[in-house]
Amino acid sequence: MSANRPAAVVVLAAGEGTRMKSATPKVLHELCGRSLVGHVLAAARELEPENLVVVVGHAREKVVAHLGEIDPGVRTAVQAEQNGTGHAVRMGLEELGGGVDGTVVVVCGDTPLLTGETLKNLAATHTTAGNAVTVLTAEVPDATGYGRIVRDGVSGAVTAIVEHKDADGSQLAIREINSGVFAFDGQLLADALGKVRTDNSQGEEYLTDVLGILREAGHRVGASIAGDHREIAGINNRVQLAEARRILNDRLLTQAMLAGVSIIDPASTWVDVTVTFERDAIVHPGTQLQGATHLAEGAEVGPNSRLNDTRVGAGARVDNTVANNAEVGPQANVGPFAYLRPGTCIGLKAKVGTYVETKNATIGEGTKIPHLSYVGDATIGEYSNIGAASVFVNYDGKDKHHTTIGSHCRTGSDNMFVAPVTIGDGAYTAAGSVITKDVPPGSLAVARGQQRNIEGWVARKRPGSAAAKAAEVASREPEGEA
Ligand code: UD1
Ligand code: MG
Repeated sequence: MSANRPAAVVVLAAGEGTRMKSATPKVLHELCGRSLVGHVLAAARELEPENLVVVVGHAREKVVAHLGEIDPGVRTAVQAEQNGTGHAVRMGLEELGGGVDGTVVVVCGDTPLLTGETLKNLAATHTTAGNAVTVLTAEVPDATGYGRIVRDGVSGAVTAIVEHKDADGSQLAIREINSGVFAFDGQLLADALGKVRTDNSQGEEYLTDVLGILREAGHRVGASIAGDHREIAGINNRVQLAEARRILNDRLLTQAMLAGVSIIDPASTWVDVTVTFERDAIVHPGTQLQGATHLAEGAEVGPNSRLNDTRVGAGARVDNTVANNAEVGPQANVGPFAYLRPGTCIGLKAKVGTYVETKNATIGEGTKIPHLSYVGDATIGEYSNIGAASVFVNYDGKDKHHTTIGSHCRTGSDNMFVAPVTIGDGAYTAAGSVITKDVPPGSLAVARGQQRNIEGWVARKRPGSAAAKAAEVASREPEGEA
């Protein structure tokens, strides 16, 4: 166990986030595959706190349900009315039985770019210096709206945090701001919160007042300046949400590139935090990789593809494709313009080509479905070839049925496989067949009407037409050529 392991992390997530103008509570908005609060919890988890408490208030049923899904180990504390950040922390500590021995870290639920690394540094600084409180600060280009860090003119020590709305002219000029992230001594925090007043412009209990209270009582107050101010940015509206997404996405792509992945156009490539790569994978422009998507060594994806929860095998090629919950085998070839739906499993060196849709389909090694087909609820063996424009007719209007095609089959173009139906190993089917009965191994199935040519029909029924003239010309002996 690390010496800096905090007794608790308290995440403040009770606010409404009115500026999002949304039916969804602010902390549930998404970037790079996680909610805002999900990012904060992931960073907090890196501290391995003994307790993790999220203070909820606005739309708390939704927030609590979401927390249960993403991190069932978190505790929640209800702040029924949003009376300020100090009040919120008080509610959080109450959930833990009041004062806590050891370090309590407080973070806001709307700062998704904050890293576990920064939190660990803050906790380490706090413990090493023996502070009562350590605040994470940052120098920002525009301090509007933030609490200002007021330092002693001589010693440089932090003396207070003054909220923007309460600041005077010289304080407004300060560019060092309060990130909203703190490490506290748990017992001193509980004592000080009891002394916080509400005589400020917002009539709220400010957490930031704890700093001045502790300092006046003679305790050590410290600050840790974040290396990158963008990390502490709070999300208040959708413009800031998009900016944060851009920053986080760039961070993820940079990590991938440094680990040996080629991202041809970082500006048009979007990835979730949960996506993983092996070296020499290549991602072409206009590609979105989501969820548990994994690109194995040398896999090549894009351009213009969206893959969700999809595993792409080593050396496979996926071009202009939408895939959801699919598995693409090593050296397989997918697209352009394929749609792989859940339960698709494509074997080694297999091909799912242009305008092919698959669902709940296992496609064996080396099998090819090159063009214009729907393959739903099917198992196809190895090294078979499915003719162009084939449909696996899986739905009778009520139930779904399965089609099984063996290995080394050659099915003709424009076949309908009316499920349930089985085609044996090495069988062939004729083009244009509607296959309703099982085909034994090695047979040729022909299931279509016989062709009948009615000669001279056009000349009789459409006399004088362009077609009739063309036919007339074609029936003459070619002239001048021998
Ligand atoms: C707060 C800080 C400010 C800092 C800024 C950083 C205070 C008084 N001010 O200001 O110094 O620069 O964050 O972004 O702490 N919340 C609750 N319950 C409440 C009020 C807020 O849970 O009663 C939560 C919000 O959901 C949010 C966080 O606390 O996640 C911060 O609240 P917000 O209203 O955004 O505070 P700021 O005015 O931004
Ligand atoms: Mg804020």
